[in-house]
Amino acid sequence: MICLFGNQKGGVGKSTLTVLSGNYLSLDKSWPVTIIDMDYQQSISQKFEKAKVLENAEPYDVMPASLETYPMLHNVLTRNKKDAILIDLPGKLDDDGLIPVFKSADMVVCPFAYDEFTYESTVLFTVVLKKVNPGIRVVFIPNRIKANVKFETMTEVNEQLSKFGTITAIIPDRIDFQRITTFNTPVSLYPVISPIFEQVFAKHLWNP
Ligand SMILES: Nc1ncnc2c1ncn2[C@@H]1O[C@H](COP(=O)(O)OP(=O)(O)O)[C@@H](O)[C@H]1O
Ligand SMILES: [Mg+2]
Repeated sequence: MICLFGNQKGGVGKSTLTVLSGNYLSLDKSWPVTIIDMDYQQSISQKFEKAKVLENAEPYDVMPASLETYPMLHNVLTRNKKDAILIDLPGKLDDDGLIPVFKSADMVVCPFAYDEFTYESTVLFTVVLKKVNPGIRVVFIPNRIKANVKFETMTEVNEQLSKFGTITAIIPDRIDFQRITTFNTPVSLYPVISPIFEQVFAKHLWNP
């Protein structure tokens, strides 16, 4: 199972949700996970190297990769169909190297927020992705949502996005999201994120 974490917009939570998903699938569901880090900042790889110094056994591997090397990597990674390959995408759309990555994926998790600019980037990303891979399953996760979001805005955006995929419950903007590592999710986050990941990955967990 190949799952992308993508949005053209930066700072929406692609890297954060990739790590949270990796932790959830491997630590809570004992599923074999590999994270492919294609973010320019390689933020997950950096987190991973730091955490490795302090812990003794990592629950999954994090591989830094570029769009150019992906086609080679893909053959090795998909030898075992049951493995969950989680790919943290770079926040861009103007690179043909994305085409093989988009084509190879079974699903995409697309974090977004309820503001105008993020909405436009989210729709653009999804339209391009679906053009390349019409069968891909799209899951939108509203992330870093502050208490003052207008109900009307949420309803309107959700109505538009639901034409492309499923929208989960919201993840609030909370300070404990800064404490996530590639070895551990803070326990305080479980009530917020577990029901969301149950919904996002259930289909694949029961039918690997
Ligand atoms: N729900 C949240 N509440 C508070 N901070 C968050 C939340 N989700 C992500 N963040 C923080 O927001 C910043 C951007 O998130 P990140 O996952 O790096 O976004 P992206 O990979 O899309 O650029 C990071 O500092 C991260 O810790
Ligand atoms: Mg990132």
